[in-house]
Amino acid sequence: MSKKLIFLGPPGAGKGTLAARAVDIVKVPHISTGNIFREAMAAKTALGLTVKAVIDAGKLVDDGTTIALVKDRLSQDDAREGYILDGFPRTIPQAEALADFSAPDRVINFDLADAIILQRLGGRRTCRNCGANFHILFSRPKKENTCDSCGGDLYIREDDKKEAIVRRLEVYREQTSPLIGYYRERGLLVNVDAAPPPVQVVENFKTVLGIQ
Ligand code: AP5
Repeated sequence: MSKKLIFLGPPGAGKGTLAARAVDIVKVPHISTGNIFREAMAAKTALGLTVKAVIDAGKLVDDGTTIALVKDRLSQDDAREGYILDGFPRTIPQAEALADFSAPDRVINFDLADAIILQRLGGRRTCRNCGANFHILFSRPKKENTCDSCGGDLYIREDDKKEAIVRRLEVYREQTSPLIGYYRERGLLVNVDAAPPPVQVVENFKTVLGIQ
């Protein structure tokens, strides 16, 4: 089974939601650069303080910082056999760097129309404590504003405000979508229809990877 997986797709496509379920299937860690940056921002570390303004505005953190962070994370024991990389690479230089230090086996490209993306990001609520994602319509927490997993408070990410969403979609089109062609040319790309409910997206994911 392919174990070095990249989840590629526009903001709000459901990469993090599927990754949280796919870890139990593939048995590798879920590594989300967005989550790592958000944890650093919450803890007010030097990294967090440096990247906060860029992330809140919906722009990309610079390649040098991001590549060094992922290289370090993938050198840890739990990622030796494989990983689900969610949100990395996001630029061609990041993809080239990754090919040098840990070449991926498969790239799962999330297909989703813009109208659905806007609906998903507009209603997302995120746990301040563990980072789990909910949605006011599609994935409601059992208790209002409270995380089902850890009981933490739910909040609206700064970059889920309208202006930042528009910017993130522009950045995706300009800097990240060229990775679709990059990985297709290398024979690594598979497409997953991300529009159905999460349980069906999990089935679509298993089908493209040939998992029973
Ligand atoms: P990051 O956290 O990676 O943001 P993103 O790619 O924009 O992805 P999202 O987390 O917004 O969405 P998702 O696809 O995971 O969707 P989710 O599952 O939450 O990055 C944040 C920022 O960090 C970037 O903008 C950048 O500044 C920086 N950064 C990160 N990586 C970087 C890099 N490599 N280089 C430079 N900078 C980097 O789902 C969304 C909502 O929809 C949720 O509410 C969920 O409940 C709901 N939902 C999910 N699936 C379904 C479904 N199937 N049906 C119905 N609802 C669903």
